[in-house]
Amino acid sequence: MKISISHSSQHVGKEVVIQGWVYNTRSSGKIVFLQLRDGSGFIQAIVASQAVAPEVFEAAQRATIESSVEITGTVSKHPKKEEYELQVSGVKLLGTSEEYPIGKKEHGPEFLFDNRDLYLRSQTPWAVLRIRDRVFFSIEQFFHEEGFVRFDTPIIQPTSCEDTTQLFTVDYYDEPNYLSQSGQLYSEAGIMGFGKVYDFGPVFRAEKSKTRHHLSELWMMDAEMAFHDQTMNMDVQERMVKRIVGDVLKYCAQELAILGRDTTILQRLVNEPFVHLKHHEAKRILKEEGLVSGVESYDDTYWQDDMSTEEEIALGNKYQLPVFIEDYPAAIKSFYMKKYTDEHGVLRARCADLIAPEEGREIIGGSQREESYDALKKEIVDRNYPLEEYEWYLNTRKYGTVTHSGFGIGLERTVRWLTGVHHIRETIAFPRTLNRSRP
Ligand code: 4AD
Ligand code: MG
Repeated sequence: MKISISHSSQHVGKEVVIQGWVYNTRSSGKIVFLQLRDGSGFIQAIVASQAVAPEVFEAAQRATIESSVEITGTVSKHPKKEEYELQVSGVKLLGTSEEYPIGKKEHGPEFLFDNRDLYLRSQTPWAVLRIRDRVFFSIEQFFHEEGFVRFDTPIIQPTSCEDTTQLFTVDYYDEPNYLSQSGQLYSEAGIMGFGKVYDFGPVFRAEKSKTRHHLSELWMMDAEMAFHDQTMNMDVQERMVKRIVGDVLKYCAQELAILGRDTTILQRLVNEPFVHLKHHEAKRILKEEGLVSGVESYDDTYWQDDMSTEEEIALGNKYQLPVFIEDYPAAIKSFYMKKYTDEHGVLRARCADLIAPEEGREIIGGSQREESYDALKKEIVDRNYPLEEYEWYLNTRKYGTVTHSGFGIGLERTVRWLTGVHHIRETIAFPRTLNRSRP
């Protein structure tokens, strides 16, 4: 019977057939050990010369690293560990593999990513990208259980949603258009028909950032909700993140173990309320507690600055829980956010970035949206955006405007945090960064 390696435990003592690849092999003369993987898991196949026909043993000896094989054998449980083995009776060599370039020795990341098509077969990418799959699935399940409708938004857009300096231009039948930075503006139109919507797809940021937190092509889920203010918005985000983390802990134990991920903080945050700090409070704490190095003096502008990478990491380390940083100065946030003037006379946005602990940084950006037609139109004009291109968007405020809010979660940022890998490029199959668009 043909089985997946992941189902081995259900077939102890039985003869099965496994199709897969040899990811490692060693031989002690009379026994060949073939380490097999088939995408679902890993198992060791033991080929003993006295137990098989000479041509079977010879085929096992010829099975080099990354050869594809069909192995017949009896499943047995490892005497000590929760692992299964195959006592082999047949070996069929399907596709040979000569001098596989990724060997047992250490390779630098550039080499691995130059050969990403092959590197994908290794255990670290296997674990990371399966966790990615689980996060994706959890988000989709969460939204459907909460009554959201999946509402796909266009990738080719005539305007900017976030930052006009980060646009990739495409030649759209001789007219310049842009690759989407976020589907949000379209999702806002969507809620007027469907109440609560989400989209999930690739978005593009032509950021000149070479950090381990930035991709040029990333996957983002934008959620948008009618009749939701910013407090309700953050509540949905917190429940969603708890759901994702809970699911990853439950379904990806093998993957987390392969990655050597310490899950103490992840386990804790599933049951604890997240931290909420106003932007100015967060800045004050960082300053007073000296949490950020290299900053000699804080002048008045400090309170109005964006959060730096170092500051986000410091806050995550301090609280060891996800932290909502609320109400950034409006001047450094997007045009669509609802604004208010605080007690110090600073114009603020009703927004929050959710910072993940353990150097996860910002994984979610969200806000309540400006629902006034006049205020939003003025903002578009003041920012010198082409008003005529935003007329359709302003219709959401012209015909039956409502309090509404939403957020976007970066899939790769989230997976980087959950897996604990150093660089975000590990979290997507074929990364696109400032200096890489191949393979
Ligand atoms: O904070 P951002 O820019 O928010 C928006 O685009 C809103 N329109 C979302 C919304 O309200 N519907 O991006 C959302 C998230 C960030 O928190 C981060 O996780 C991720 O997208 N992100 C990136 N991830 C990797 N590389 C980049 N260059 C990223 N830019 C944003
Ligand atoms: Mg953001």
